[in-house]
Amino acid sequence: MHFNPSKHTLALAAACSALVLAGCSPDTSSDKSDAEQAAFLNRSQQVTAQFQSELQTTLSTAIGDRGAVGAIGVCQSAAPAIAQALSEESGLSISRIARRNRNADGGLSPELEPLYAQLEAAPMDNGAPRKVHGSVDGAMVYLQAIPMKEQPCSVCHGTNIDPTISDAIAAAYPDDLATGFAPGELRGAFLVQDQAQP
Ligand code: HEC
Repeated sequence: MHFNPSKHTLALAAACSALVLAGCSPDTSSDKSDAEQAAFLNRSQQVTAQFQSELQTTLSTAIGDRGAVGAIGVCQSAAPAIAQALSEESGLSISRIARRNRNADGGLSPELEPLYAQLEAAPMDNGAPRKVHGSVDGAMVYLQAIPMKEQPCSVCHGTNIDPTISDAIAAAYPDDLATGFAPGELRGAFLVQDQAQP
């Protein structure tokens, strides 16, 4: 054997997923090379998967240890901290955004509106959260849908939230917009931005 087949397959899979992403690009204004863009999309997918898994672990541990009300406080400090740590580690800027946001820093900027609207129109793509990318002010951006789920999401973002929980949310987030979501709707999106100067 002159090559390691599993390594080869992995590299191929990574290259293919990047090509698929590049292929459905709504973006025409980026002047980045294809290779640069493919590398950015690969890294964006990786850092998003890591962010998602760390958030999930933190949330389910917090709910288990302290119940939903206690978990609100944990999310409030842990979610931005995880995002910051991963951003520093990766050199990319990763965050969560939403049209109807809870964290005041997570609103939708007008430049991201067209990409976000695509996720909103169809949060899922072949059984997986939809991914889109483009460029804002010459810098590459990647967005990945965060679809609303029944459990555990509806406890804190749903249409029928327990009053103790909604009181705790209102106390921590007086301008909260992130309730009233039904399963399958777009709750928000992961946003990855290339921090390198365009
Ligand atoms: C225990 C309550 C709770 C549960 C359960 C919960 N969230 Fe949240 N969610 C929060 C809080 C609190 C924030 C704000 C965190 C912050 O300050 O960054 C938040 C923020 C978010 C954001 C970031 C955008 C925004 O509005 O600020 C998204 C997206 C999100 N949640 C999606 C989900 C999804 C999807 C689920 C189910 C897998 C879920 N949440 C379950 C409490 C919860």
